[in-house]
Amino acid sequence: MKLELSSKKIASIKADIEIVFVKEKTPFHRWVRNTKLLKKSAFEAKEEQVCFDFKDDILYVGTDSFESDSLRLCCSVALKAIGEKKFKSAKIGLYCEQNPLESLQALCEGFELSNYRFEKYKSTKKQQVLQKIIISTECFNPEISIDDTKAQEAFERGVLIAKGTNFTKEIVNTTPQDMTPKKLAKLASDTAKETEGLSCIIYDEKFLQEQKMGAFLAVARASSEPARLIHLQYKPKKSLKKIALVGKGLTYDSGGLSLKPSNYMTTMKSDKSGACTVLGIIKAAASLELPFTIDAYIGACENMIGGNAYKNDDVLYARNGKTIEVRNTDAEGRLVLADVLDFAQEKNPDYLIDFATLTGACVVALGEYTSGIMGHSDELKCSFVSSALKSGELVGTLPFNKYLKKLLKSEVADLSNISSSSYGGAITAGLFLDNFIQEKNKDKWLHVDIAGPAYLEKAWGYNQSGASGAGVRMGLYWLVDMIKKEK
Ligand code: BES
Ligand code: ZN
Ligand code: ZN
Repeated sequence: MKLELSSKKIASIKADIEIVFVKEKTPFHRWVRNTKLLKKSAFEAKEEQVCFDFKDDILYVGTDSFESDSLRLCCSVALKAIGEKKFKSAKIGLYCEQNPLESLQALCEGFELSNYRFEKYKSTKKQQVLQKIIISTECFNPEISIDDTKAQEAFERGVLIAKGTNFTKEIVNTTPQDMTPKKLAKLASDTAKETEGLSCIIYDEKFLQEQKMGAFLAVARASSEPARLIHLQYKPKKSLKKIALVGKGLTYDSGGLSLKPSNYMTTMKSDKSGACTVLGIIKAAASLELPFTIDAYIGACENMIGGNAYKNDDVLYARNGKTIEVRNTDAEGRLVLADVLDFAQEKNPDYLIDFATLTGACVVALGEYTSGIMGHSDELKCSFVSSALKSGELVGTLPFNKYLKKLLKSEVADLSNISSSSYGGAITAGLFLDNFIQEKNKDKWLHVDIAGPAYLEKAWGYNQSGASGAGVRMGLYWLVDMIKKEK
């Protein structure tokens, strides 16, 4: 399915079906043609409700508002309804509450995101009948009009942001045998070759040893698949700021010797989501030609069992010189991130953001739909949360405090890899990472725990079951919003 933008009036565009969004409580606007049919079929225009008018070839889709995220949901409901029929083309006008350009972008995102299917391992792929959707810049409210050039920009931005998200979903969904650290590194380097402005360096275990990344190496040790440190860089023509992104890339997390029970181990191919998120962000940022230098660092390895596995009771030497007592080998993500975060600070970034499926505790705290944002700077957290919510991703901040920090004390080493309390696990994991953030970078750093929304057992909203690409849209919206602030 291809999306097209048209500056023609909706009535003059040719298509097999027209999609009309209808708001609950105030359902009648100028594009609602058959009010009698809607009344007869008891269509109340509630969220996710649809009604076909086969006489005029119109699909009515109900919604509680025309806010951006409601529009994205409407797109997915419309695609689902049309997908069951034989229409080859569809058209839709513009709907908005306030900002028509943001709404246009949301429509593009909604259609692209909902159109994703993971079919890599299906022997027969579904043939999609619907070939194209044409979005007209004409608004349902005749008093609102938009500039053609700005509309084209918003359209392209929406498509690229959604494509970046779908790219991330595809890698996360790929099985652990097909997405080992080496294969993830190859994919990153191939992506760099295909993308203008993007370059990639892959470091092997020898380099990790030279760099004294004892924590990262310990996690990777029992696997027959060697670890990789992946460094992607995007250099724009003009750079306003330097951004470092770090991603947890556990291509499989069995828990190690603190082995996960089988039902918790299934889905742990998704423990590389943070890595795939930063890959999706940097690829889309390059395609969008954003004016920031972006360095993305991925710690890729497997957490496995074996005769040479790292053990509870081991003391590890991290790159920054701190020693870590291992009290649970399933708290491995923070060990990998400790060394990669330290490495990422070499180039003195203006901002440092890490994405990780770090803790089950974050899912307990915020629910499975919401990512946890942690950091020291209220200003940075505020700006990031505001962009994230605009993107349609759900986030909540979790507060650090000095008492939780003390729970990471160890009798034998500088710190323990788990907290001595069973409460507040998402925050203590964030505070563990804080030990690897240099003093001068404290206010530049954010930690995003995406353990809840990164991988869905059941589809919700416009997200399919499986990977959701969590973090990609919030990261890109934040970067785009920052252009205005930095100019
Ligand atoms: N990868 C898991 C966290 C996770 C859980 C991600 C559920 C996605 C869904 C992480 O490595 C882990 O196992 N964390 C432990 C930490 C504990 C041992 C302190 C956890 O959350 O149980
Ligand atoms: Zn784990
Ligand atoms: Zn993990």
